[in-house]
Amino acid sequence: MYAMPRLHLALAAACLVAAAGVAGARPGLSAEQFIAARQASLDMSAVTIGGIKSAIKGGQEAKTQAYPATALAKWARVLPTLFPAGTGQGQTRAPTHALARIWTDRAGFDKAAADYAAATGRLVDLAKANDTAGFQAGLAEVSQACIACHRAYKEAPRPE
Ligand code: HEC
Repeated sequence: MYAMPRLHLALAAACLVAAAGVAGARPGLSAEQFIAARQASLDMSAVTIGGIKSAIKGGQEAKTQAYPATALAKWARVLPTLFPAGTGQGQTRAPTHALARIWTDRAGFDKAAADYAAATGRLVDLAKANDTAGFQAGLAEVSQACIACHRAYKEAPRPE
């Protein structure tokens, strides 16, 4: 009879550790928080790329834009994770322009996000190499990647 309480204690401890592990592994965002996070970070991406464009237009060398280009590239890799199922139009209280096609054509959406991430990655390399002419072409490619995804997966703003 000596072994039993110890066994029970060990089992109880194992359960506690497992429960803590489960709770700790997934703090979780609500659907509304996912939508708010992606909209805010997409707004900041627009600000970032706008800043890069005006710096280059103003005659700055590519290497001065390595930091904002890196920030854009980091975010580009995060972007698809902020579109989990259940965060589309009519599925939450938050307004969103994300079209249902993101989830019915997930492979296409992930490809658009990967193309965008690749374009921002090239931009970082061009900045580090201080290839200003290449960087300008790279910027146009990044903008094209934004537009391509929006055409397919984002509701166009209604004309006023
Ligand atoms: C892989 C697809 C994809 C790429 C790439 C992408 N976007 Fe978007 N973007 C979306 C979707 C979908 C929405 C709608 C999000 C929502 O309303 O929940 C959006 C929304 C936005 C918004 C509005 C955010 C708001 O406050 O509602 C801006 C601004 C924006 N994108 C800018 C950009 C810029 C700039 C780039 C490139 C540097 C870019 N996006 C790249 C899919 C993309």
